[in-house]
Amino acid sequence: MNFLKDKKILLIICGGIAAYKSLELIRLFKKNGSVVKTILTNSAKKFITPLSVASLSQEKVYTDLFDHNNEAEMDHISLSRWSDLILIAPATANTITKLSNGMASDLASTVVLASDKKVFLAPAMNVRMWEHNSNKKNVKKLKEFDYQLIGPEVGDMACGEFGEGKMIEPENIINFFIKYFKSEKKHCKYKALVTAGPTHEYIDPVRYVTNKSSGKQGYEIARSLSRKGFDTTLISGPTNLEPITGVNTINVNSAKEMLEATLNNLPVDVAIFSAAVADWKIKNFKYEKIKKDNNINLALEKNIDILNYVSKHNSLRPKIVIGFAAETNNLIENSKKKLNDKSCDWIIANNISDKSIGFGSDFNEVTIFYKNKKIEKISKMKKSILSDRIVQRIVSELN
Ligand code: CTP
Repeated sequence: MNFLKDKKILLIICGGIAAYKSLELIRLFKKNGSVVKTILTNSAKKFITPLSVASLSQEKVYTDLFDHNNEAEMDHISLSRWSDLILIAPATANTITKLSNGMASDLASTVVLASDKKVFLAPAMNVRMWEHNSNKKNVKKLKEFDYQLIGPEVGDMACGEFGEGKMIEPENIINFFIKYFKSEKKHCKYKALVTAGPTHEYIDPVRYVTNKSSGKQGYEIARSLSRKGFDTTLISGPTNLEPITGVNTINVNSAKEMLEATLNNLPVDVAIFSAAVADWKIKNFKYEKIKKDNNINLALEKNIDILNYVSKHNSLRPKIVIGFAAETNNLIENSKKKLNDKSCDWIIANNISDKSIGFGSDFNEVTIFYKNKKIEKISKMKKSILSDRIVQRIVSELN
């Protein structure tokens, strides 16, 4: 099986002597059936020409951020959305610095910053530059953003020196991606369901009761699962988040709708209940807008606990059921209780009294309570990276 066939590779070529290797890289990707669109930085054009890149890739080559024709044809956002992944090869010290600082000063850095795809870098630079503390710091930051480095290698350099900094050979980069797509494919047999976001419990046609959940953690988990090759369904309460390419998203409003959508999408192998489902709904929903002259007392009644319902279901229970626990106090005690009471396999708990993590933030710090294993604490990190960690654990448990 050819794991690179029809894969959409967005290759960013930076200005370094190793740029000539990217021509061979394009040839090999094409030989394996991939579609390769390329961005050349301004300095890359001093080493290789757009014409040679276009001839090999048989695709238009993108160079300038403000090129009127390019932007009309495919703008920087569409370019990154189009791809399955972004590969920067060679990645120079200059580009690594820009990316580690989140700059958007040319087409290449803007596309990367605007991307929701996995980013890979094949660095190439002189050994002293590679070993410079400033570069080391930048590389560390890139890893924290979950960008993945391929190489560099140790060897003789074009500048005559020897050491670490040589761009990994194109053939080895190709082998790396064959393995990467192969490991993604392995999980295709698995189905996953994620609930995310808040719910809206309507009082009348214009007013509702809700909570502060942004849905970010659940969306990131769905994205990570899909990237790993899971057939993923996301049941989302109302959020401001962009839909995720490749994830089957079902939008709902109320807890009742979320329960129905969840049941309609079972069975799955793993279900992750990250939604902040309203615990109560309005007992007497008014079909007409309530006028303010009225004095109202809102009578509430309990919503069904979706996690609890699915987890205890005789025939529909997924192999792995994961709940979340949002706690302001007694985190350990409350989470253990939720794990047992709701018959979960794991509870992922976060302390929502810390404003720098959890609700609305891009960061989270969690403690995982397992049914059969010791508690695990995962330190503060971006929700996207945390999601990859969670999915890694799901994969090893399923296998
Ligand atoms: N949950 C659910 N359906 C509900 C309420 C909660 O599926 N009607 C799920 C959440 O998605 C989460 C877990 O239950 O995975 C725990 O939610 P949380 O709000 O932390 O706790 P509750 O069970 O609602 O209890 P409490 O609000 O008293 O802490």
